[in-house]
Amino acid sequence: ADEPRLRDVAADRDFEIGAAVAAEPLRTDASYKKILRNEFNYVTAENALKMGPLRPARHTYDFRDADAVVDYAREHDQTVRAHTLAWHNQTPEWFQEWDYTDGQLEDFLRDHVHTTAGRYRSRVDAWDVVNEAVADDGTMRDNLWYDAMGERYLDRAFEWADEVASETDLYYNDYGADGVNEKSDAIYDLVSRMLDRGVPIDGVGLQLHALHEKPAPESVAENVRRFRELDLDVQITEMDVAYTPADDPGDRDARWEKQAEYYRAITEVCLDEGVDTLVVWGVRDSDSWVSSWFESLTGDPLLFDAGNDPKPAYHAIKETL
Ligand code: XIL
Repeated sequence: ADEPRLRDVAADRDFEIGAAVAAEPLRTDASYKKILRNEFNYVTAENALKMGPLRPARHTYDFRDADAVVDYAREHDQTVRAHTLAWHNQTPEWFQEWDYTDGQLEDFLRDHVHTTAGRYRSRVDAWDVVNEAVADDGTMRDNLWYDAMGERYLDRAFEWADEVASETDLYYNDYGADGVNEKSDAIYDLVSRMLDRGVPIDGVGLQLHALHEKPAPESVAENVRRFRELDLDVQITEMDVAYTPADDPGDRDARWEKQAEYYRAITEVCLDEGVDTLVVWGVRDSDSWVSSWFESLTGDPLLFDAGNDPKPAYHAIKETL
């Protein structure tokens, strides 16, 4: 008999196993699509819903790629996570040169949130409303939104999203805040302040890019617990696992076993701590952002290899579920 599919094993557990998805291979790559629809029951648009791709000019939107990803997912009964409304990266080029006033920037963000979150209100389950607002040392990241509006840019972004998409879960999402550390302490304080101010935030996304550092699973568990005690949902939103020359066991099989153990441990944390969604940041190793962004890391951080075959990490997650 055929092996059960990962998505079915997950669904039996009321668990969502997701992948970040790009628009291009949905048009051109049959193997990519086959893995995606057979093995995952959850999808995040990797780039298509970022401001850069969406906003060719100040008053225009281009939803073609975003629609391609969202429509494909819905045709295949996959839940969609949308990423992201307010971020400092991947803004359009024209925008980076725009000499705006603070008021114009606020108006622009309001329109962006209303239009984008409104358009997808019935098609997506969750939004990363704000991405990466906190710096690694725990201070507020000094980005364009913060510069113009201060901390209330987060409040406003969540409120505007809630105005048009009250059924969608609204998340704060960040990296390097997976375990308990200075940065996750700061995020804990930030979302606590937002809750005190009555901001409609539903959850926190832990990206869990396990690249230069791999947070100890016990520390991730402790971190998840404290956010859940605030009555927030927690999801693992962008997981990948790569190795530096210093922690790479050397040969491929040993590395893939080690990687599988880490995926297994994080899946166990999810099941133990009430995290019902784990998203990996890409389908196959060859689709991953890691090797083009980090030259010194191994380029095989995901669940499927470049030849479309499942890796030990895939089996580890399936066995754990
Ligand atoms: C990455 C994409 O994977 C790349 O294709 C793109 O060139 C850069 O962004 N944190 C995030 C994601 O929130 O949006 C990033 O995605 C990876 C880090």
